[in-house]
Amino acid sequence: MDDFNGKTVLVTGGSRGLGEAFCREFARMGCKVILNYAHGKDVAEAVASEIGALAYSCDISDEKAVEKMFQDAGPVDILVNNARIDPYKRPADATDGEWWDQVMSVNLKGAYLCGKFALEGMKKKNWGRMLHISSIWAYQKPNERMLSYAAAKSAMHALSRGFAAIGAPYNITSNVLAPGLIMTKLVSERLTGEALEREIATIPLGHGESPQEIALAGINMIRSSFITGEVLDINGGAFMRP
Ligand SMILES: NC(=O)c1ccc[n+]([C@@H]2O[C@H](COP(=O)([O-])OP(=O)(O)OC[C@H]3O[C@@H](n4cnc5c(N)ncnc54)[C@H](OP(=O)(O)O)[C@@H]3O)[C@@H](O)[C@H]2O)c1
Repeated sequence: MDDFNGKTVLVTGGSRGLGEAFCREFARMGCKVILNYAHGKDVAEAVASEIGALAYSCDISDEKAVEKMFQDAGPVDILVNNARIDPYKRPADATDGEWWDQVMSVNLKGAYLCGKFALEGMKKKNWGRMLHISSIWAYQKPNERMLSYAAAKSAMHALSRGFAAIGAPYNITSNVLAPGLIMTKLVSERLTGEALEREIATIPLGHGESPQEIALAGINMIRSSFITGEVLDINGGAFMRP
């Protein structure tokens, strides 16, 4: 099991929710943390200054910007591909095709670009860890709202296996963490009353989980140098892998 003290970690979408929890846990372990975000500068910088991280603004769907972020960061040891466009935040004027492209460009292409540029530095170090944050929606039957989100998350599993195969000769592992309901601040505000009860009723353990608990499960998974190309489902029993 690896000790991550002193490692350089880049967490995409690290300014709030699960990404923030990853940043906090890695900082607590003595890592140098680069907290990526795209829009909310004040929020990102407040978290970063509290934990001694570097807040770095970069839209991960922009190839040139991602290339520059990894040049500025220097070789990264650990990448957490966590950023997403929230499926509940579709702009009213976006057509179906435009919304599909927006979701795919951040949630899938962004993860690919970050993995691709991270891989270059990891190969030089002959060591690396990638963790891609998927979702239970990679398996669930999506409704119209969740369709592009679910498709991007499913594809992320194939992406992770690709990085696992390419990275293996360089001691680079690549894995997926697929959470169910995470009780982030945003989700807790959105899901209240009957909607929350309906959601909880689908979870055998009867509750959602804190971002910190989910982040710690992901970090524990990637401590092993012998787990690669795998998926850790963490969902209170809502989806049980055969
Ligand atoms: N919440 C849940 O219940 C749940 C369940 C299963 C899986 N997940 C997965 O867990 C991960 C985190 O979820 P969350 O609920 O914590 O997310 P969230 O609250 O929606 O936060 C998303 C993060 O991504 C950043 N971001 C958005 N667009 C970006 C872009 N183009 N480039 C770079 N950063 C960008 C946001 O920062 P800015 O606003 O500054 O851009 C923010 O830091 C996601 O991959 C999500 O799919 C969540």
